[in-house]
Amino acid sequence: MPTEQKVLFLTKKHGEWEVGTAEVSTPGPGQLLIKVEATALNPAEWKIQVFGVLVEEYPAILGVDAAGTVEAVGEGVTGFAVGDRVLIRGYFVKDKGTFQQYALAEAAVSVRIPKNMTFDQAASIPLALTTAALALFDPSGAGLPPSWEESGRGKFAGKPFVIFGGATSVGQYGVSSPSDPTIQLAKLSGFSPIIATASPSNANYLCSLGATHVLDRALALDVLLAEVSKITGGTPVELAFDTVPLPSVEFPASVLAPGGTLATVWPAIDDSHRAAAPGKKVVGVIRSTSRDATMYRLFEKLPALLESGDVKPNRVEILPGGLAGIAAGLKRMEKGEVSGIKLVAHPHETLWAPVRI
Ligand SMILES: NC(=O)c1ccc[n+]([C@@H]2O[C@H](COP(=O)([O-])OP(=O)(O)OC[C@H]3O[C@@H](n4cnc5c(N)ncnc54)[C@H](OP(=O)(O)O)[C@@H]3O)[C@@H](O)[C@H]2O)c1
Repeated sequence: MPTEQKVLFLTKKHGEWEVGTAEVSTPGPGQLLIKVEATALNPAEWKIQVFGVLVEEYPAILGVDAAGTVEAVGEGVTGFAVGDRVLIRGYFVKDKGTFQQYALAEAAVSVRIPKNMTFDQAASIPLALTTAALALFDPSGAGLPPSWEESGRGKFAGKPFVIFGGATSVGQYGVSSPSDPTIQLAKLSGFSPIIATASPSNANYLCSLGATHVLDRALALDVLLAEVSKITGGTPVELAFDTVPLPSVEFPASVLAPGGTLATVWPAIDDSHRAAAPGKKVVGVIRSTSRDATMYRLFEKLPALLESGDVKPNRVEILPGGLAGIAAGLKRMEKGEVSGIKLVAHPHETLWAPVRI
């Protein structure tokens, strides 16, 4: 097992990204040590740097999405062996951040990946898929019966579903899959039509994924509502999902019939959100007692969902320079310059690590 590795770290709250060397951790009970072949970027990482939220311990190693090979197996772990190809859901704590060459992973949120799936594709899955799943299926979210359980499959046949931000990574898992018209979580639940908002440049892509209709995300609210009503033939919309999230809850909630539910990716829901959608339910992806259980259940079912193709990865773009390329990728995300694609870095392509942490 290697003892030293290259890592990307955030020096301090609102600090800079630096590449350095650090010790490799040893997996404890229930954990795996993963050689990270690919790690994906998420908006949370630039938000942590810019807004100083979520993380209090610095220097911090971020990154929560990775795929790679099992390097070592901790006590009590069953079902994994050294050399297995896996994807993992990381955490924003030093040992479990994925912006490093070797990360610790909880075995409960690690799964073996199919032979025909690349590490880059697999790394696009964990956080965005989990977020879509928690928003739609956790009791603290919309609380639908999960589409990966028999009780949830096809349960909402013929009911319309409107997704704001079909091209976000979360939206793509909420809506559809890249290589054939198999819709992912929403499709598995049977929703139809599935109406997504996006830039017109992503319309063909989203339709190829399985969205039934794509509306320009720049449409004024009255035009959007008229278009949705035309598509649904007046069938009430009981569920919408804002994956962006839009600055105003009122906008996405307006498509809902009275009593309808707006699922969002907001990490907290307060009275201002509720006041903006009177007579409707607004939910987010929040800390809840049920959240871990829902996530573990999803990860139990994930190997089968990946093998069957019911859940497929995002399109990916590989950043040059290994860990050193991540800062520029996050800056592009912050500026809204990444459209319909997941940015991925290869930590082992990192050439230079001048600092020791
Ligand atoms: N609460 C949680 O636990 C949690 C977890 C994960 C993510 N999140 C949040 O969820 C959001 C989505 O994350 P992500 O990784 O999926 O994002 P992402 O892939 O980086 O999102 C980029 C996409 O956003 C779309 N977009 C931007 N403004 C839009 C608008 N007004 N209407 C429709 N689409 C718009 C763009 O679509 P076009 O290219 O089509 O314009 C672009 O492709 C972020 O705010 C993230 O912080 C929350």
